[in-house]
Formats: sequence, C-alpha cells, structure tokens
Amino acid sequence: LIIEWITSRLTPASSLARLIGYVDSSIALAHRYKRCKKAWAPHVSACHDVILSERPSNAKNILIVGSGLLLEIPFEELLQDPACRITLVDVVHPISVRKRVRDSGDRVQLIEMDVTGSAKLLAKKINVTQFTQLKFSPPLKGLNNTYDYVVSANIISQLSLDPFERLRRCNSRLATDEFFAVLSQHMGRQHVEWVKNLGQKVLLISDVNRTYYDRTGQEIDQTPSAYVTRDGKLIKSWNWLISPMGETSKDFSYSMLVEARVL
Ligand SMILES: C[S@@+](CC[C@H](N)C(=O)[O-])C[C@H]1O[C@@H](n2cnc3c(N)ncnc32)[C@H](O)[C@@H]1O
Repeated sequence: LIIEWITSRLTPASSLARLIGYVDSSIALAHRYKRCKKAWAPHVSACHDVILSERPSNAKNILIVGSGLLLEIPFEELLQDPACRITLVDVVHPISVRKRVRDSGDRVQLIEMDVTGSAKLLAKKINVTQFTQLKFSPPLKGLNNTYDYVVSANIISQLSLDPFERLRRCNSRLATDEFFAVLSQHMGRQHVEWVKNLGQKVLLISDVNRTYYDRTGQEIDQTPSAYVTRDGKLIKSWNWLISPMGETSKDFSYSMLVEARVL
C-alpha cells in the first residue's frame, strides 16, 4: 500500500484526474497485471496480433485511445516502421510509459485527455445536475482527424467506472445501478461515434460479456458488459481470464469475452 501511495504521488497527473480516481485506478491496474501476468498473457498476445494484423500497410499516423500501461499495444513493433508516428491518449500516462517512450523522440506524442468530457463536471465543486443529466460529450479539440489507424484499446467499459464512483462519494443517493447503466450506455455510444470520426480505419477492442466459474471450473453465471456495440465488422473474439481463482475471490474466477471490431 505504501508503494502504491508513493507511486500515486509521483505519477504526473492533473489534480482533477487524481480527485476522480483515475491515478489510483491506473496504479491498481499495474499491480493487478503483476499478479495476473500469466493468466493475462493470451489476452495481451491476442490484442497485439489483432492490432498488427489490422494495421493498414500505409499507416504512418497511428492514434491509440486508452493507451494506459501499453500492455495490450505492440508499441515497439509499430515503431519498427521508421515513418510511423504514434499518438497515445489517456487520462493518465503512468511513469513506466513515460520512461518507455522517452527514446522515441518526436515520433511518439502523449496526450493527457478525458475522452468522455465529463471530468470537468466532477471537480471539487461537482456539478451533479449537469453530470446526471448527461450534459457532456467527448472533446472536439485536441486531436486532428487525420490518423491512418485509430485503436480504441479496451477503454470503453472503463469510461463510466471512476466518474460513477466520484458521484457515489459525493451523492450516494443518485449513484444507483440504474444510473450506472444509463451512464455506461451514454458514454459507450458517444465514444463509438467519436472514434469513428478520428481516422481512416478504426479498430475497437472491448469486452462484451463476463462469465463466472466456481472452484471446479463449472460456469455459474454470465452477465453482459455495461456497454456492447454491434457496429462495424467483428474481426476476432477471445476469452480473457481477467480474474483467475484467488484474485477477486477464493470461491470463483471470471473471464471476459473480448471483441475486436473494425468500425
Ligand atoms: C483497461 S485500461 C486499458 C489498458 C491499456 N490499453 C493497456 O494496454 O495497458 C483502460 C484505460 O482507460 C483509461 N481511461 C479511463 N477513463 C478515461 C477517460 N475518461 N479518458 C481517457 N482515458 C480513460 C484508463 O486510464 C486506462 O488506462
């Protein structure tokens, strides 16, 4: 916990990103990856494969939305093309990523951005009314729309989590399950329309379903992800054992069905 606290303090991020909880979530993801590296390996490799195989042969300007820890991104492979330039967008760029991109000079650009447009409503003086009335939309400025290849990298189901938690901390009465569903749908729909307009070819990687297993490996439950799109063409799908036995509980494990779609 002390290490997580120190990492959190050292991670460069806006005070708003810190307040909403994005920095803590980024650090928690890094620690979870360390614990689950083996179980996650097939998923990481499936992401790398599909991102590389769908890359247009002439792609020079690549945009990755939800770059996070660069786990699912074949970053070095993409940069093997000397003409390739990559823009990484996330609300938090962790220290490990800042170190990793350092040697790439101006071929890699980091943009710190809230892609939902909701964060500003969740500041210290929270605007609960505008937030719960969904009066926000993804940013119109900050990115050009001339990318050859855009990858939305497993971000869509994450968009509503920290904002909803922030609402819950400020006004628990309004943070209902029903509102979470509405928020996730709204953010998901807006995200899909937003990324579609950012470039020539858009690859969306997102989870669509969760399956729970008991200790014997028997399936015990299934639940769809908070937002699922059927837009575009399904390229590939695979199971990600995101929570192996012992990670969330000693009594069950769960995996997610992940889809890669070209929008
Ligand atoms: C599951 S992680 C993606 C992991 C990443 N693709 C990787 O390869 O490491 C989801 C990412 O979405 C980012 N994120 C969540 N909400 C965001 C928002 N509103 N704007 C920008 N990024 C956001 C998180 O910071 C996190 O890095």
